[in-house]
Amino acid sequence: MAILEVTKITKAFGGVAALSNADISVEQGTVKALIGPNGAGKTTLFNCISGHIRPDAGEVRVGGKNLTGVPPFVMAEHGLTRTFQNLELFADLSVIENVLVGRHIRMPVGAISAMLRLPRYEREERRARDGAMVALERVGIAELAECAVGSLPYGKQRLVEIARALATEPIILLLDEPAAGLSAGEADELKELVLQIIDEGVAVVLVEHDMRTVMSLAHEITVLDAGRVIAVGPPEKIQNDPEVIAAYLGTDVTDVNKGEQVHPITQSVTIKK
Ligand SMILES: Nc1ncnc2c1ncn2[C@@H]1O[C@H](COP(=O)(O)OP(=O)(O)OP(=O)(O)O)[C@@H](O)[C@H]1O
Ligand SMILES: [Mg+2]
Repeated sequence: MAILEVTKITKAFGGVAALSNADISVEQGTVKALIGPNGAGKTTLFNCISGHIRPDAGEVRVGGKNLTGVPPFVMAEHGLTRTFQNLELFADLSVIENVLVGRHIRMPVGAISAMLRLPRYEREERRARDGAMVALERVGIAELAECAVGSLPYGKQRLVEIARALATEPIILLLDEPAAGLSAGEADELKELVLQIIDEGVAVVLVEHDMRTVMSLAHEITVLDAGRVIAVGPPEKIQNDPEVIAAYLGTDVTDVNKGEQVHPITQSVTIKK
């Protein structure tokens, strides 16, 4: 059974259909890529899954449990967290403080003991900091814990977001364009990190435009176009799907290695895994 099962999600913004009956599912310990041209509805689908917006119709199930429309913190309590396409970090806070924002859902003590700083609270606070440090170690930036997030280069800020999501100890992690703005070296490191995360049994749903990253990481791909799922399957099948290739017509990108304009899907046929 899929650990995340999302069925028939429909969402309109002022009469404009952003999603129509969109389905996506992911098995434990695997990577599902969610791809599609700009405006296809990828982020909207993430928002509907993570509880940041309520779908007009459809169902979100985590581990078989219907959690449609619950707020993000409840989703996180059930093991589903996400990162954002546009980073949502507190620039003036330190790296570890940003990660603790995610970690706090794991703190069972009440507001009163927190206010009075009772020993139990202090203990939980210490445990939360330890957990945040573990998350920072997992993404390889523990030494930056006390730095202000705003002073870090972009690639490191992306890692802070991932650490914040990991600090909630998710079983499902949604990553919205985690490689956007990263150098080729940083993108490779990110790939390693995702492999490590799925090795630990976490399911990852990855929105990503960089087809090299998608094709080398995804076990299965769901393709959205204009709010509809137009294809689902393993990378080899998706790369050769005429409807998918057509959906990307006119969206050629520059190959950084060759300086040529290439079709995002068909180009990847020549790339070795
Ligand atoms: N809050 C909103 N209000 C109105 N329209 C929205 C809102 N969020 C998304 N849309 C619209 O819904 C459609 C899908 O947008 P979405 O951001 O989900 O696409 P996307 O696939 O993530 O694109 P990109 O690859 O550019 O990130 C677009 O037409 C967008 O303009
Ligand atoms: Mg998006």
